[in-house]
Amino acid sequence: MVQLSRTTKLTAVCVGVYTIYVLITFFLLPILIPDPVTMQRSLVSYSTRHLGNLSNLTLETGGQPIRSMLVTFRGSGALTLLDNLAHQPGCYQHYAPLIGYESRPIAAKEHGRALEELVALYNCNYNMSAEMIQWGMRSSVFKRFYGAQAKICRTHGQETCWDPETMAGVCKLHPFINMAVYNMRLSLLATLLERQDLNLTILLLVRDPRGTIYSRMSNKWCLDERDCEAQTLCSDMVSDHQMVETLTHAYPQRFSIIRYEDLFLQPEETIKQVFDFYGLPLGRTKPRTQRIHPRSGFVVESSRREELFNQPAFEWMSEMLVDDIGAVQDVCGQAMDLWGYRSIQDFQHFSPESFQPIMGKA
Ligand SMILES: *[C@@H]1O[C@H](CO)[C@@H](O)[C@H](O)[C@H]1NC(C)=O
Ligand SMILES: *[C@@H]1O[C@H](CO)[C@@H](O)[C@H](O)[C@H]1NC(C)=O
Ligand SMILES: *[C@@H]1O[C@H](CO)[C@@H](O)[C@H](O)[C@H]1NC(C)=O
Ligand SMILES: *[C@@H]1O[C@H](CO)[C@@H](O)[C@H](O)[C@H]1NC(C)=O
Repeated sequence: MVQLSRTTKLTAVCVGVYTIYVLITFFLLPILIPDPVTMQRSLVSYSTRHLGNLSNLTLETGGQPIRSMLVTFRGSGALTLLDNLAHQPGCYQHYAPLIGYESRPIAAKEHGRALEELVALYNCNYNMSAEMIQWGMRSSVFKRFYGAQAKICRTHGQETCWDPETMAGVCKLHPFINMAVYNMRLSLLATLLERQDLNLTILLLVRDPRGTIYSRMSNKWCLDERDCEAQTLCSDMVSDHQMVETLTHAYPQRFSIIRYEDLFLQPEETIKQVFDFYGLPLGRTKPRTQRIHPRSGFVVESSRREELFNQPAFEWMSEMLVDDIGAVQDVCGQAMDLWGYRSIQDFQHFSPESFQPIMGKA
């Protein structure tokens, strides 16, 4: 009998282990893990089982989903809300789909194409959205809030999860489709309300411009962008306000506004109101969500980096320099009047403890 040397035995064991590893990883797992659409179909049907038969609401089965949109500004603080809109049962969110247009002026100049793209996305068609995907893949925030990307990228890898056909297939399984638009005026977006086929519901999220600017000031990316200036923000807020009366009149069931300050002070009640308005069922707000975002915060998207912040709604009152507050108020008088935010007149006697920035709540 030939005695095998210890080295040979060891080598044989290593080769054996490696072969088993290769077999499992490259042959067995791909067979066991279903394709992303199949997997997601089971997940959605399981998580929405308490909602009954939803086949009338999913594109995959020839239904029409319930479609909603949150219109806001960078730094307006939609994080907690978006987390719910992205992760409640049956919800699919096109997070910041106009990310590829970068600034408001660019999105405005190309609004025809941008609006067409939004309509396509509401129908789970990604044929116009190659640029969005290119931008989105580079952003961890985008991935966290977009559709089922976080899960699918983890289980199936980047190439599969950002494939437009896969994304379309997954999107079509969902009965509730939302999106958040940060960089386009309401007056342009409003034309989407006219489209009978979408039957869209729009909420405008409004925040005190002093708070918005304060939250932008801690972001380097915002220092050199015209989009980020108070003047631009407030002229857009004035434009939005002019639309509000028209739209609440024409579409009382499908257009409304919410304040960031309410979302911050009463997150659970306000989120419930938002879901009711959109016509979406709200399960329990997940404790997981609340641990990650204990109060409320905002999301910023930029080409360079993405960050999440938790920022109290009224921090600007105690933290912002008087000169900076004054500079915002100087160009935002009309916007603040229209939206019911009180100016600080007398900085000498101003106290963050007693000042009530929202009119009608004194
Ligand atoms: C759901 O309803 C549709 C008709 O609206 C029907 O074809 C389908 O079989 C139902 N699905 C289930 C699981 O009951
Ligand atoms: C789906 O819609 C059809 C026609 O609109 C209706 O007859 C059917 O009852 C609906 N199914 C469910 C499960 O709501
Ligand atoms: C999107 O493009 C693909 C390939 O070009 C095509 O097969 C598909 O029908 C298009 N989808 C829609 C909804 O137009
Ligand atoms: C539009 O959506 C509302 C709920 O938001 C629903 O009650 C209504 O039936 C829908 N209309 C059409 C034409 O689908």
